[in-house]
This record gives sequence, C-alpha cells and structure tokens, in this order.
Amino acid sequence: MAKWAGCLIRREARVDSTNAQARVWAREGAPHGAVIIAGEQTAGRGRRGRGWSSGPGMGLWLTVIVRPEAEAAEYPKLTFAAALAVADACRVAASVDAEIKWPNDVLLDGRKIAGILLEKEGAAGVIGIGINVRQREKDFPPELRGSAASLEMLTGKPVSMAALERALLEEIERRINAPWDFMPEYAARCATIGRAVRVAEAEREYIGFAEGLDALGALLVRDEEGIVRRVLAGDVSIRGYRRV
Ligand code: BTN
Repeated sequence: MAKWAGCLIRREARVDSTNAQARVWAREGAPHGAVIIAGEQTAGRGRRGRGWSSGPGMGLWLTVIVRPEAEAAEYPKLTFAAALAVADACRVAASVDAEIKWPNDVLLDGRKIAGILLEKEGAAGVIGIGINVRQREKDFPPELRGSAASLEMLTGKPVSMAALERALLEEIERRINAPWDFMPEYAARCATIGRAVRVAEAEREYIGFAEGLDALGALLVRDEEGIVRRVLAGDVSIRGYRRV
C-alpha cells in the first residue's frame, strides 16, 4: 500500500485536464503525493502541445503532485521514474511486458498504451499519466488508429482499473524516493537505446543511432556523420516501429 502517493485523492467524473486542475491545486498548497483522477477529460493534454484522447471510463487519467527534495535541474528526471512506474504497473495489473520509448511513451506490441506529461508548478512537479485501458480501435481518433492501443484491446482480457491505479501509485512511490537512483534501470529498459532512430527537431530531421543518455536523461544520438547530438525535446521514433 502506497503511503505518500495518493495520501489525498480527488476523484472527479469529468474535468478539462487533470494536469490543469492539479496545477491549480498545487498553487493552493496540495501536499506531496496528492492525486487527482478523472473518469473523463474534455481537454486532455499531451506532450508537445498535442491533445490526449480521454473518453469516459476508457482509461486511467490521473495526475500526481510531488514536492521532492531535489534540485530544480533534476526535476525532468521525474518523467523517467514515471515511465518505469507505468510499465511496472501494467505488468502487475495486466501481466504485460511493456516497453519504454524515450522519453516516456509506454508501448505494447509497438503501439502506444500510455503517455506522461510532466509539468512544473512553482516548486511542485505535476506528473500527468494517461493509460489506455478499455478502448477498442474505433474509440481512438482516426489519426491514432494503428499507432495507439489499449491494454484490453491487446491482451483480450479485462483489466481492473482499481488494481492498475493501486499498482501505479505504489510504483510511483517506490521510484520517487531519495536517492533518485532509477536512471540506470531506466536506461536498461528504454527500448530506444541501442536502436536506429529518426529525430525530428524544429529545424531539422535526421536519422542516427541512439547510444545512451547523459546525466540529465537527454538522448545521445550519433548521426550519419558520426556527430553525437544531444536530444532534449525532439520527436524520436524508433526506425521500423510505427510512429507513435
Ligand atoms: C503524451 O503526449 O504522451 C502525454 C499524455 C499525457 C496524458 C495524461 S492523461 C492525465 C493527465 N492529464 C492531462 O491532461 N494529460 C495527462
């Protein structure tokens, strides 16, 4: 049973975005480990300004507010801890071996089943997590069909949302505890490392080989000219995988 993660849980049937609500709550003083969970999001947010399809009862849509004792520069690493927690929670609650695509997409059979949106609100980290649980193909917007999927769609078995939530909060609590020593495990489990990748940045697109991570978790990609580039925010796809 998690102690601090989920020490205070707000359950809402419908919100715009649990991250948006969590940011307001964080400003009002929500404690370390406070969680907001919604049955449905009407304006779910994804990374890079995208939306996140969050139909009613289709998935686990939640945000955890954390106030860790860490340097501000370390905060982006929360996203890696969350990715490990999501993959492990899927293993516990749905008996699947999910893969992590840098930085924080969680894939099963090459399709995206979960995403993480980390934001900062003052001194608090706001970790938004969406796990697709019950959707069928037709429940996804047309542009996501084929690249997104849900746990039940891929396993053909029912998944308990309560068990998934419990496992997720436990795994988050296990990971986000000082000292933050999850980076070696993240690197070992990140499917992007050791693969040929395509990197799309604002001003250029190139292919290369993902060699590893630097101390802050930036992806180190050797391009075709042999130059190692540090990728912080580009869109990285693993070559030979569907684009997610
Ligand atoms: C991504 O683009 O991969 C990140 C998706 C994050 C979605 C979750 S759902 C719960 C939380 N609230 C949001 O508005 N977004 C995150």
